Amino acid sequence: MWTKTSEVPKKGGKQVKVRGWVHRLREIGDKVFIVLRDADGLIQVVVPNNKIQGKLDVEASVWVQGEVHADKRAPRGHEIRAGRVEVIGEADPNWPFHRYTSTEMELDFRHLWVRSTQMQNVLRARSVVIAGLRDYLTRNDFWEVPPPIFVSAACEGGSTLFEVPYFGGKAYLSQSGQLYSESMMASLEKVYAFAPSFRAESSRTRRHVTEYWHLEPEVAWIDWKQNLELQENLLKHAIKFLLKSDPVVMEPFQDRVADLEKWVKDKWVHIRYEEAIDLLKTKLNFPELKVGSDLGTQEERALTDHFGTFVAVTHYPRNMKAFYMKVDEDDPRWVLANDLMGPYVGEIIGASEREWKLDLLLENMKLHKLDPKNYEWYLDLRKFGSVPHSGFGLGIERFLMTLLKLEHIRETLSYPRFMNRTYP
Ligand code: 4AD
Repeated sequence: MWTKTSEVPKKGGKQVKVRGWVHRLREIGDKVFIVLRDADGLIQVVVPNNKIQGKLDVEASVWVQGEVHADKRAPRGHEIRAGRVEVIGEADPNWPFHRYTSTEMELDFRHLWVRSTQMQNVLRARSVVIAGLRDYLTRNDFWEVPPPIFVSAACEGGSTLFEVPYFGGKAYLSQSGQLYSESMMASLEKVYAFAPSFRAESSRTRRHVTEYWHLEPEVAWIDWKQNLELQENLLKHAIKFLLKSDPVVMEPFQDRVADLEKWVKDKWVHIRYEEAIDLLKTKLNFPELKVGSDLGTQEERALTDHFGTFVAVTHYPRNMKAFYMKVDEDDPRWVLANDLMGPYVGEIIGASEREWKLDLLLENMKLHKLDPKNYEWYLDLRKFGSVPHSGFGLGIERFLMTLLKLEHIRETLSYPRFMNRTYP
């Protein structure tokens, strides 16, 4: 029976068998000190030189048999004094991270860097947050539906569309499953797609990748306000799910608990775009802003810093937003949409009530200079029993940046993709 490093009993005297990788290695006299790593973390193993079977280097995989000893000097207060260490897979002595690491190295050797404690910690939390999001959706009667990745038209504007050759013709990589989720909404009413989205982002920022994971719920019969409630409930559930997860997951993020608990308790802020512009201009040091200005990272962060919690900005100017968004019938300058800003990051969700009437949708398309011919199937949805509906897209990586307070989006992904990187 193998014992996980997290389950090695704290009390001395027990015999255990553990297996994993040599994270660190040091020889003192006739003893070898191994910091052994498995999926749950690290534990110190001490073994006499002559009890090692095979060639031992950093990152070799090993089987260890020994007795637990309480020892204040050991990293977790206890260590394994091994009677036998068996090397299963030898390691080349040229482990790239022997001397130092740099951001470029962490990306060039990503296939090995994923073994680092930093990556282990984030990848565990990422997995739990996704499970928490799915848990909420499943409990609330949503059906997961698969969107296509090869598509024939833009959802979010042509400038970030990846074109790919497709059997003598061309196709695009999906920027969002939304238009397809809308079709499936008319079948299963409460649906969500969870898939990669692709954006040909030529700017390098700390919150853009060219490939990210996109969670996109789409719901029949709800308006933009109920859509906003759904966003808050869903994200709060995922935060609670993370807080309640296995100690192995949350232990490395103890400094994040206060924020997370606060955000679960807070009532999240709703502010109209026009009011946000006014606030930024008059109180938050952005005097040059006016109605019609884009909110960039700086402005979005200023808003979340100011309120200390998630902020939904609603009612954006119509011409700044996508063609599928419903225009506010009370004042057609605005759309019934919201972006949700996450603390430390800015926009993590784009959301809206959808234009469900054919004539108004065609009018929007004209305004956005889109050719209805490219959206024939989507227009069909408005011809056959159209209903009011709303939905949104959550960028998983951005959400994680907020939750774990990560500086750069590359930290949230095992294989982040940028303009200049598709390797490894
Ligand atoms: O605001 P966006 O472009 O909205 C849509 O794609 C809608 N069709 C979604 C929907 O209503 N179903 O993108 C939604 C979210 C953003 O708020 C952001 O979190 C994330 O997707 N996102 C990116 N994340 C990382 N890198 C990028 N280049 C991203 N572009 C968008």
